[in-house]
Amino acid sequence: MRKLYVFDTTLRDGEQSLGITLNIQEKLEISHQLVKLGVDIIEAGFPASSPGDFEAVRQIAREVKGVTICGLTRAVPGDIDICWEAIKEAEQPRIHTGLALSPIHRQYKLGVSVEQGIEMAVGAVKHAKKYVSDVEFYSEDAFRTEPEVLARVLEAVIEAGATVVNIPDTVGYATPWEYGDLISWIMQNVKNIGRVIVSVHCHNDLGMATANSLAGIKAGASQVEGTINGIGERAGNTALEEVIMAIYTQPARFGVNTTINYKEIARTSRLVAKITGVPVPAHKAIVGDNAFSHASGIHQDGVLKERSTYEIIHPETVGIPQNRIILTARSGRHALRHRLEELGFHLNSEELNKIYEKFLRLADQKQEVFDEDLYALMGDKNGANAYKSRISLKSFSVSTAGPAKAMATVELEADERTAIDAACGNGPVDAIFKAIDRILQCPVTLEDYSLKSVSRGKDAMGDATVKVRTEDGRLFVGRGLSTDVIEASAKAYLNALTKVKSQLTARG
Ligand code: KIV
Ligand code: ZN
Repeated sequence: MRKLYVFDTTLRDGEQSLGITLNIQEKLEISHQLVKLGVDIIEAGFPASSPGDFEAVRQIAREVKGVTICGLTRAVPGDIDICWEAIKEAEQPRIHTGLALSPIHRQYKLGVSVEQGIEMAVGAVKHAKKYVSDVEFYSEDAFRTEPEVLARVLEAVIEAGATVVNIPDTVGYATPWEYGDLISWIMQNVKNIGRVIVSVHCHNDLGMATANSLAGIKAGASQVEGTINGIGERAGNTALEEVIMAIYTQPARFGVNTTINYKEIARTSRLVAKITGVPVPAHKAIVGDNAFSHASGIHQDGVLKERSTYEIIHPETVGIPQNRIILTARSGRHALRHRLEELGFHLNSEELNKIYEKFLRLADQKQEVFDEDLYALMGDKNGANAYKSRISLKSFSVSTAGPAKAMATVELEADERTAIDAACGNGPVDAIFKAIDRILQCPVTLEDYSLKSVSRGKDAMGDATVKVRTEDGRLFVGRGLSTDVIEASAKAYLNALTKVKSQLTARG
């Protein structure tokens, strides 16, 4: 069995392409969770793309240990210099440089000949090697590049010192058999390929990213690139959790093994969804809400008799433990701690006391507290850095008179000062957002608003997500939780505006 290196690009190919501005705290939180998950490489960003990205990569390199930290560059010396500045404090730094050599990109994007492209590629790898031994080369749009051209550039960059070569299907155009054939062809025809790790990087435009990656791995690739929940540009990237669990179910099919901590998969997925505001569809493989629920009578009967009848992966394996304790307002700290530990949260006594108080407040409003509620409560706590709103919602009231008429009053508090204002709106949520706008005077456009329940029953908690766009085009996500959906919405809006305001302050 070969080791398969898991290369996570949630913070680069995933986040950047969504246009969402995650703050450094949020990126660090995701990175720390990726380390717990056991990925081998974190591609933390594209440092030359913006000062914000540079700073985020630098802080991740400085703080996140036990993993390779990689930065992306174009095949230009300036990008590589900036990238090195950003990653140089990493325990294991890697520069990921490259360019596209497919006919379409040569002609329309770069305006270079094959020879010029190869020269740029070799120059970039040699330049990166001056800084760091671990250099990955990507041949963007490799799948649509003539195989002979691909072989020439790969041989040249390996000669120049590349340690990993990445073969992206940038536009998600391949089928599994074609992509697998390409990797086999490379393994057989690139003379010095035995000296490097071959990496697969697939996009999901035709819904085949996972299948293509697996075909490439079976054909000899030893590194897979992708994102958590498959987030990314257009139809997204390869969903790492799918590749990992496909291999877990039958490693012999692929000839590889990973060193992933499977129990952290569900938690990582939830964190990425929470922070990016990109929800996971209920039917999504491995991490969707319905991935392990059996609805039809025949299936339920089968699973009760023997789990393996309809279950190829046990939910506990990916960190979704079976629930045997019902939590209500009568449950004590011990029961709460027990369940939280089963869900992977280990708290000291002081932390437990704080969560227990929140738990009791929630349990008073609900008959039963479900796992989803606990995750939400813990998200509130764990996300304290990412979601800490310096400005808090002290009180509010809303009155409505028909669908299009509502009036809201809000009182906000920051640094022991309060402000109060009121506004009319097209429904209660619009009214409360307008009242907040009147106080905060932060010019943004509301791009998206969604509300979902985090557990079952009429008394379920509401989980609101808002996305706001600033005048300079950046997108910020805010989340809010409450059993009162208007309060959840107001908290989410306030959360997003707090992030906008803190970025504005940070920029001076
Ligand atoms: O899809 C792609 O080609 C990429 C490269 C920049 C690695 O993301
Ligand atoms: Zn990509």
